[in-house]
Amino acid sequence: MLPGRSDAFLTAAPDHGGELYSPALPEPEPATVARGGPRGIVPRVAMLAPDLLRTQAFVGGRWVDAESGETFAVLNPATGDEIARVPRLGASETRTAVASAAEALPAWRTRPAKERARVLARLASLMADRSDDLATLLVLEQGKPLAEARTEISYALSFCEWFAEEAKRVDGTIIPSPSADRRILVTREPIGVTAGITPWNFPSAMVTRKSAPALAVGCTMVLKPAEQTPLSALAVAALAEEAGLPPGVLSIVTGAAEDAPLIGAELTSDPLVRKLSFTGSTAVGKLLMRQCADQVKKVSLELGGNAPFIVFDDADLDIAVGAALVCKFRNSGQTCVSANRLLVQSGIYDAFVARFAAEVSALRVADGFADDVQVGPLIDEPAVGKVEEHVADALERGAEMVTGGTRIEGQFYRPSVLTGVGPEMRMSREETFGPVAAIARFDTEEEAIAIANATPYGLAAYYMTGDLARAWRVGAALEYGIVGVNTGLISTEVAPFGGVKESGIGREGSSYGVDDWVELKYWAVGGLAPAG
Ligand code: SIN
Repeated sequence: MLPGRSDAFLTAAPDHGGELYSPALPEPEPATVARGGPRGIVPRVAMLAPDLLRTQAFVGGRWVDAESGETFAVLNPATGDEIARVPRLGASETRTAVASAAEALPAWRTRPAKERARVLARLASLMADRSDDLATLLVLEQGKPLAEARTEISYALSFCEWFAEEAKRVDGTIIPSPSADRRILVTREPIGVTAGITPWNFPSAMVTRKSAPALAVGCTMVLKPAEQTPLSALAVAALAEEAGLPPGVLSIVTGAAEDAPLIGAELTSDPLVRKLSFTGSTAVGKLLMRQCADQVKKVSLELGGNAPFIVFDDADLDIAVGAALVCKFRNSGQTCVSANRLLVQSGIYDAFVARFAAEVSALRVADGFADDVQVGPLIDEPAVGKVEEHVADALERGAEMVTGGTRIEGQFYRPSVLTGVGPEMRMSREETFGPVAAIARFDTEEEAIAIANATPYGLAAYYMTGDLARAWRVGAALEYGIVGVNTGLISTEVAPFGGVKESGIGREGSSYGVDDWVELKYWAVGGLAPAG
């Protein structure tokens, strides 16, 4: 068993029995992928409790269709089958959702923090009770292995738990006054009506990572989930309703890909909305930020990454290989903190590449419901297309394919390792967002740091070393919001998640995550008798 792997990855991983090293690549790769057992997609959908499979949007506390009556299909990335159809909302329904969030705000923000906390705690507990259903829904619409989906549901509900606790601690300060007849106070107040736009790679966790802190401090929210994965967001809303969340406090506005610009424009131009929180690409984040600038709306942006994963000569090879595997192949490489550039020092290079490639080629690619699956499909055809383009570009420019390098079938791509990946290649400059590891060799620590920082992005960086002094030195030199030292897993609700440079603004999770949803109010209280 490799150190550094996640529970989810381990749950889904075959037992390697400690036998890691295998210089020869394993058995011929399968030509097709395993499917999720005898039950096909339709029975799995039918097995879901109807109260969680919601096919209407949730606006102002009501389950609604689009005014046009139009719907769009949600597809299973493993099979291409239609799971459900959900409403295509547009500008008008978004305006209604914002108006209901504004209407709900005064009562919600003045409700005692302990009561808001109770609703969030109840939501967390309902999510825990229904985690099997939520995880099944997540696999159906997103494709990740069931074990990873279960882990995501725990991660998702952990934000409700965490911010239920934080809600009670949104306190203020009294600052010693420079004059005897004055008091100076600072309070933290909810920003007001907020908007959230969430991605498809963590369809449940990103909904709670944004909405739980917002609701905890007394904001209300209109949230638009990614068009590929609206069902998990709607299921969270259904449980929030059951938990006692008042109408209008959280609305879920569903829309197809073509509707996203309209919904985004409405959320960023409605003066009632005081803040937008977005997770997604840097290009879209910049656009939304520009749109928010007109009304000086606050923004939190969790954008693209281009994570370096540095393996120094003094690293523990088991730890480095295990951490690289989980960091690169979790969610089929579709995380913004995925290792995008593996930089390996010359002295450990051959050993690392051999062991890592052997492990990668042994990964089991299958439908998320299949036994022992470790890598599921990519989200959609454009995602596979991007991976193929990156691989073709790298090979044309002289990189070498050590293992993988082809599509298996449909949206399943073979876990792959490329070596000799240079800085001019697309893989080094853009997020590949797929199950392909790009490896480059370096000689000195200074060189590794320079390569790692030579990007406009700054979300997460990882490095593997057994040298304590180097660990402190390199961590200080890396221009990133998050550094993982001898680990490939950094996500937890208790720590601040977020990037620097073009990777974003703001932090999600932890006690720092409260700051993104409150404004400071300074009270100057004069005309008082001297304290005494
Ligand atoms: C993301 O990819 O945006 C989130 C990843 C995580 O929280 O682990």
